[in-house]
Amino acid sequence: MASLARTVAKSPLFFAFPTRVVASKYHFHRRFSARPNVPVFAPLDTFPTRHIGPNIAEADQMLAVLGYSSLDAFINDSVPAHIRVSDATVSEQSISALSESELLSLARDIAGQNKVYRSYIGMGYHNAVIPTVILRNIIQNPAWYTPYTPYQPEIAQGRLESLVNFQTMVTSLTGLDISNASLLDEATAAAEAMVMAFTGSGQKKRTFFVDSGVSPQTVAVLRTRAKGFGINLLVGDVFEALKDSKVTSDLSGVLVQYPDVDGSIKDYSELAATVHSLGGIVACATDLLALTMLKPPGEWGADIALGNSARFGVPAGYGGPHAAFFSVTEKLKRRMPGRLIGKSKDVTGKPAYRLALQTREQHIRREKATSNICTSQALLANVAAMYAVYHGAPGLRRIANRVHVMTQILKENVESAGFAIINKDFFDTLTINVGKVVKDAEIVHQASVAQGINFRKIDERHVGITIDESVKPADLIDVINIFNTVASRAPISLSNLTSPTTPSFPDALVRTSEFLPHPVFNTHHSETELLRYIFHLESKDLSLVHAMIPLGSCTMKLNSTTSMIPLTWQGYSRLHPFVPADQAQGYARIIKELEQDLCTITGFHSCSLQPNSGAAGEYAGLCVIKAYHESRGEGHRDICLIPLSAHGTNPASASMAGMRVVPVKALADGSLDLVDLKAKAEKHKDNLAAFMITYPSTFGVFEDGVQEANRIIHENGGQVYLDGANLNAQIGLTNPFTCGGDVCHLNLHKTFSIPHGGGGPGVGPICVSEHLAPFLPTHPLVATGGSQAIEAVSAAPFGSASILFISWAYIKMLGGQGLTDSSKLALLNANYIAHRLRGHYNIRFKNVKGRVAHELLLDLAEFDKKAGLKVPDFAKRLQDYGFHPPTCSWPISTAMLIEPTESESLDELDRLCDAMIQIRKEAEDVITGKQPRDSNLLKNAPHPISVIALSDAEWNRSYSRQEAAFPLPWLRERKFWPSVSRIDDAYGDLNLICECPTVEELADKNLSQAAL
Ligand SMILES: Cc1ncc(COP(=O)(O)O)c(C=O)c1O
Repeated sequence: MASLARTVAKSPLFFAFPTRVVASKYHFHRRFSARPNVPVFAPLDTFPTRHIGPNIAEADQMLAVLGYSSLDAFINDSVPAHIRVSDATVSEQSISALSESELLSLARDIAGQNKVYRSYIGMGYHNAVIPTVILRNIIQNPAWYTPYTPYQPEIAQGRLESLVNFQTMVTSLTGLDISNASLLDEATAAAEAMVMAFTGSGQKKRTFFVDSGVSPQTVAVLRTRAKGFGINLLVGDVFEALKDSKVTSDLSGVLVQYPDVDGSIKDYSELAATVHSLGGIVACATDLLALTMLKPPGEWGADIALGNSARFGVPAGYGGPHAAFFSVTEKLKRRMPGRLIGKSKDVTGKPAYRLALQTREQHIRREKATSNICTSQALLANVAAMYAVYHGAPGLRRIANRVHVMTQILKENVESAGFAIINKDFFDTLTINVGKVVKDAEIVHQASVAQGINFRKIDERHVGITIDESVKPADLIDVINIFNTVASRAPISLSNLTSPTTPSFPDALVRTSEFLPHPVFNTHHSETELLRYIFHLESKDLSLVHAMIPLGSCTMKLNSTTSMIPLTWQGYSRLHPFVPADQAQGYARIIKELEQDLCTITGFHSCSLQPNSGAAGEYAGLCVIKAYHESRGEGHRDICLIPLSAHGTNPASASMAGMRVVPVKALADGSLDLVDLKAKAEKHKDNLAAFMITYPSTFGVFEDGVQEANRIIHENGGQVYLDGANLNAQIGLTNPFTCGGDVCHLNLHKTFSIPHGGGGPGVGPICVSEHLAPFLPTHPLVATGGSQAIEAVSAAPFGSASILFISWAYIKMLGGQGLTDSSKLALLNANYIAHRLRGHYNIRFKNVKGRVAHELLLDLAEFDKKAGLKVPDFAKRLQDYGFHPPTCSWPISTAMLIEPTESESLDELDRLCDAMIQIRKEAEDVITGKQPRDSNLLKNAPHPISVIALSDAEWNRSYSRQEAAFPLPWLRERKFWPSVSRIDDAYGDLNLICECPTVEELADKNLSQAAL
């Protein structure tokens, strides 16, 4: 299938009727409306018709409602002419479309170009064994992979409970008090720990010491992050360092790895005491499976434990995505980065989960934020949590024990063959000195690769081997016999193996404490039980399988099945990120083509796919800008201008990259205040580093002045960072380069169709102009980026590599014309909603032609003034209608931001509009006094079934149960029930409980329920 294009070209039938003729229904319709017949041999499964919701007749209907006779006339009124790009920019010529079956066939060919060897490379990445019940029912299940971050907890109790399981699993295994619900990867988690140590010292102590046993990719990311904060990062033997007063006098903390990258296990308890006596923090990178056998970090004095949870059922996927974990002691809990799920209660007193301490998020702290986690890794955290639920403590112990015993057997046999093992104490990793047997370790690597096996390349004398759950006895024999062959010894067979009985680490480090005693980890061990638990949780959550999720600035569009299916094929899922390049040729092709297509779309020169979230992309882009200024001897440039309306991640990223944030005002019509911008750019011209702008603006409009704004910045020596989260409005119509940008990030988990996973994974690549290309990030193990590259921003060279496939497939299946049509229809859908809601709601910002961009901002301030109804009242009532509420209270506190995307059909848009209009009527009843202000359909929303089922005596409301649950006729047929009533946010923050119930708590609950 690599030769699809050639095969097609040779076929006369396809020649006569090329695929691209029908690649886009809108294009086809407009160009060929005089001969509407589709050529008979054209593919039957072209993607644009499946991806774009409205069909041609519906699009025409919407255009007519808006008063346009053509899509082009509508687009001309929506997007300013001076920023438009030519039709050829993103077209079938620049990106030609493949049908779904053609794409799958090509995907199979490309997977075949990846060599799936057995990798024993370790370094934090393993061949996970994914229980098939989890594979099929979570990883491959849209009800789990399509929801959004659980900001609306009443319709997200399922995944909130699962994330609490993740938190409980992490605290229990690490022996610490509290854990968050995932971070992006192990290396960035380590960077968060380093910054916590720095801020914990009041930003006074600048030295952070990293032990030489920490993985090199972690050290690289720490170096990048340390720069922005002015932290003095030292790497070496941590025990020696603590004897040096130059280090100890300024020490904010240390990072150790347990077991370390070479496999050694050291006792850090005395070291922890010393660091504490100096007022510092001890952070420990660790491995959850090892902690089933090893004394947990919390028991020997670590303040923070962090790492990668992927070996709990998450495919290696050439580096990601996976969920990093992060747990801390009680005293650090309010400073912990990332999302934390906590227990609260709803208004009826029923226990319920929610995102805790949301006020710490970047939107509140903005440039004072020292961490910038928005999208994280919820889906993968759920997978890891379910893995622990399924296996329970006994199952995990068995897996760990087998891994350890195999490693012991390997050690014995490798030693017998004459090699020396460097690390006496180990769990699953051996560092082998080959010097006594062969001159160069390369001889061992050649012998292993010849057998389809990869070992870790350390240097010319040392080889590393890590054993994992996937290793079978026959695999172990193969590994042992590579050493026997190299040492010219006879091979052994299974019958030669004997298993040791005592662990290969000191008694003092043997785990004696129990873990995972909670009922949830001791109940669902049969497949039937786990299947039912997964579906029980799933039934509580609203996802794209139920209805549209019109979250502004989030672009919740179709995540097509065809783009998801290949992800779990072995050719993509089983590659270790550090395999030799010749084994990852398939990935190399996907990466190269995706980079090229993203450059075509953005107008930029080069791309880095390494950042694994939008916020990480912002940070990477700003670091690139800083490096550029430094290369010109202008390293002092550190002022970053940011509009007040910007997403909170913008100022947080700027401050993390070592910039000072200066806010820029907006005008009353929502556009950028160019006078203020000019004044500030000129005032700071000697130190101006960057300007960050979101386009179309966060208010949902294409501002005319974007090029003018960017010209002002360039004239004053700054670089323009364009936040590309809203790229869905731009493709084929305009692009960040034409708007005057130098760098932009893209949220592939928005515009480019990677599912949101209930709060991650994401991918936030950056695209840059030619002059910034040399500074794109590299990686210590697989070189990436430019000639003067900044150091790594993520643990893996290509970040969350496996899901790059989704965006690659999305682009290939839509083709240039389909991509452009998608943006056009995204604009049309948003403007249709704006049209239907006008007169009912105040649509805050439009352009001079009365058009919004791909999203619209409804200002609800009037309802608060007239009837005390606030944004959450409208949002929660929408849940009763079966919809996920739009983005609430951002970028204006009294507003809702609605983004429908192109994937929603006219029918679905009408359902949403009908619901919004009906809610407006319900609000009117409160305004006119027909319904009381304190107890009405909006204030009491949502209405779960437990409330609707109250007895007549208990139902003391001024409206009927029917009005509450079935306010519109279609709800009788298609009802999604929120599982709890409105949740009390303040209670949850005051009484922070972030773990699963224990046996005792459950017993109490059952008793009190029995009493009812
Ligand atoms: C405008 C804007 N910028 C940046 C981001 C951050 O992206 P991520 O959540 O992937 O970190 C978002 C996410 O919602 C956004 O809407």
